[in-house]
Amino acid sequence: MEKDTILYVLTKSQEYLGKRQIPNPRLDAELILSDVLNLERIKLYSNFDKKLSELEKDNYREKIKARGDFKPVAYIIGKKNFYKSNFIVSDKVLIPRPETEELIEWVSKEIIQGDALSILDICTGSGCIGISLKKDFPQILLTLSDISNDALEVARLNVTAILPEAQVNYLESDLFNSISSDAKFDLILSNPPYIPIEEKESLMADVLQYEPHLALFLNEPESFYKRFFFGAYEHLTEKGSLYMETHSDWAAKILQIGLDCGFKAGKIKKDLSNKDRFVKLTK
Ligand SMILES: C[S@@+](CC[C@H](N)C(=O)[O-])C[C@H]1O[C@@H](n2cnc3c(N)ncnc32)[C@H](O)[C@@H]1O
Repeated sequence: MEKDTILYVLTKSQEYLGKRQIPNPRLDAELILSDVLNLERIKLYSNFDKKLSELEKDNYREKIKARGDFKPVAYIIGKKNFYKSNFIVSDKVLIPRPETEELIEWVSKEIIQGDALSILDICTGSGCIGISLKKDFPQILLTLSDISNDALEVARLNVTAILPEAQVNYLESDLFNSISSDAKFDLILSNPPYIPIEEKESLMADVLQYEPHLALFLNEPESFYKRFFFGAYEHLTEKGSLYMETHSDWAAKILQIGLDCGFKAGKIKKDLSNKDRFVKLTK
């Protein structure tokens, strides 16, 4: 195998990442190389003999080293494919997860094309939930909200990149604290932080070391959900609904808290791994 070709550097970096116990070393090496060369991943295969320039080699080496230190690929290349779009990500936002795509599929089934629903994606992070919905239902009136201004900046970049023509509202707010009581939404959607602090030690190194803890952990789940549900109830229109992703051990408890906060009906939905993952509450 000739030195410095695509095949050569892929083989070497796969070996390196494998020794560092990275779970999918070949896939990660390909994703990173495809980004460095600005070449679709599939095209690496038809260019195995192409040689990398010195600059490309240095850039690739640095990124592979970062992956060897457990930095997630999405943060290294600055993007993550989610639902039907490529989202910009930085270490200020959670990397969108596949389960959350199931939340969007569920909500999508309940929206009628053409309805100008007012929708709030609260705890929006990269904006992946709200932006994905607005891409499929352009008529919705979308508001994205997060406690982190840095996260909202990433959400703005994603709106500009994915929905350049769209009008979207942004609110920096600790849950509903800074959202005007006049603001009413037909649907509130959320994937809030939901990992109990006690589970911290069981997380993979790439999650624990690199993803924002503000996006992951909940210190006092019960008071957080009460605050969430009272706020959501106040900001939903008459027959509005809230859809939320949850910790699989908590769905039943969360549903009950929602009903205790005044919601009339509720439902739990399992994810593809058969775990109780989503809760819907209706006013
Ligand atoms: C689990 S991430 C979800 C991000 C995105 N919605 C997704 O599904 O990938 C949770 C988000 O909630 C935000 N957050 C945490 N506490 C919050 C609070 N009290 N009020 C509003 N947003 C909060 C974090 O900054 C983070 O962006």
